[in-house]
Amino acid sequence: MHPLPGYWSCYRLLLLFSLGVQGSLGAPSAAPEQVHLSYPGEPGSMTVTWTTWVPTRSEVQFGLQPSGPLPLRAQGTFVPFVDGGILRRKLYIHRVTLRKLLPGVQYVYRCGSAQGWSRRFRFRALKNGAHWSPRLAVFGDLGADNPKALPRLRRDTQQGMYDAVLHVGDFAYNLDQDNARVGDRFMRLIEPVAASLPYMTCPGNHEERYNFSNYKARFSMPGDNEGLWYSWDLGPAHIISFSTEVYFFLHYGRHLVQRQFRWLESDLQKANKNRAARPWIITMGHRPMYCSNADLDDCTRHESKVRKGLQGKLYGLEDLFYKYGVDLQLWAHEHSYERLWPIYNYQVFNGSREMPYTNPRGPVHIITGSAGCEERLTPFAVFPRPWSAVRVKEYGYTRLHMLNGTHIHIQQVSDDQDGKIVDDVWVVRPLFGRRMYL
Ligand SMILES: *[C@@H]1O[C@H](CO)[C@@H](O)[C@H](O)[C@H]1NC(C)=O
Ligand SMILES: *[C@@H]1O[C@H](CO)[C@@H](O)[C@H](O)[C@H]1NC(C)=O
Ligand SMILES: *[C@@H]1O[C@H](CO)[C@@H](O)[C@H](O)[C@H]1NC(C)=O
Ligand SMILES: [Fe+2]
Repeated sequence: MHPLPGYWSCYRLLLLFSLGVQGSLGAPSAAPEQVHLSYPGEPGSMTVTWTTWVPTRSEVQFGLQPSGPLPLRAQGTFVPFVDGGILRRKLYIHRVTLRKLLPGVQYVYRCGSAQGWSRRFRFRALKNGAHWSPRLAVFGDLGADNPKALPRLRRDTQQGMYDAVLHVGDFAYNLDQDNARVGDRFMRLIEPVAASLPYMTCPGNHEERYNFSNYKARFSMPGDNEGLWYSWDLGPAHIISFSTEVYFFLHYGRHLVQRQFRWLESDLQKANKNRAARPWIITMGHRPMYCSNADLDDCTRHESKVRKGLQGKLYGLEDLFYKYGVDLQLWAHEHSYERLWPIYNYQVFNGSREMPYTNPRGPVHIITGSAGCEERLTPFAVFPRPWSAVRVKEYGYTRLHMLNGTHIHIQQVSDDQDGKIVDDVWVVRPLFGRRMYL
């Protein structure tokens, strides 16, 4: 069958038309959009990332006064990003890092160039050192459609409730969808949150297209590894972000499994040397090792790949994280909330029966993937497993408050129940002797 020539020329015309017009009308825009922040890992700094549709200079103007001139300036660079879809849409991604920020101080900024400026946003510079009490919002699996948690997150953020967000993989559904237009829409949608505090990420399965190219291009995480794996310090915690996806999309490179594993081990060794200063080690990765959902995901299998590695033996992460005394593991992927009793190798290691999370003898796992997306919620298997402590099949997200080096407070907020706290737990570990579980 040969398509009609008329059809083809019409199609080509359409193609050309949509290639040329990026905004709703007229010429491609030099105005910044999709503004968001991240912490590059060096004290007193913050990175601003945004998109334009034509190449322009990359500048941030900032200051301390909410109105009036913005006296401080920082320059950065942009890189063109070409999406892998048929239209090969081209975005210009700008990155500017602000430095020597005063800890805990609120700044006002705008980004862009003489060809167009963003509106003004505000953020608070992260405090330095270990002796303060960071508050995080944690969730995964937030889509451009049905983003249930977003209105409350926006309000919480505007009220200054959080110091940072951890988005544990799966964005937009998907960043690459519809020639990456869904990605653009998602990044605009989260702007009121992400332009106001560091929005820290790890890749999920929904970022897989074109070797995670949209994920790598759109976010700016610490280190030089395109945000696939990295770590950073925040108050009393060392936070490690990694890719569970290297275990599943092997055609992008089997070597990535090994490379990441080696990096994780050396990072954990360093973190343990520094454990007296930063007692908490927290990991975030998209697909959990354990879950009790009623699907056929990796975490429902006894020998899940993330837990036990490739072929049930190569580069499994449970042994590694247990060996180095990791305190808390944050996951998503399942569109629900689940908290486990402290666990290692299917055995529950409560601190005590009365206070399971005080001096737990194994890592604590939280699965928080119910922020809302077009795939809706994931049901649970009828009978909870003996290692499952709490299961909530409602939209929501997690609040994590690190009070100090010994106390972390975790709460689950339900958006189905208008912000009601549906889980509330303290994890308490001693200040010393945390480098391994005994
Ligand atoms: C995919 O990306 C990773 C990291 O950027 C790179 O090391 C790998 O070679 C890429 N794989 C392919 C098949 O291009
Ligand atoms: C752990 O603690 C919880 C809460 O007290 C309890 O229900 C559960 O049975 C305990 N598990 C073990 C193995 O002790
Ligand atoms: C940490 O905070 C908790 C709760 O406020 C408090 O009981 C505890 O003594 C603090 N620990 C340290 C080491 O300051
Ligand atoms: Fe997922």
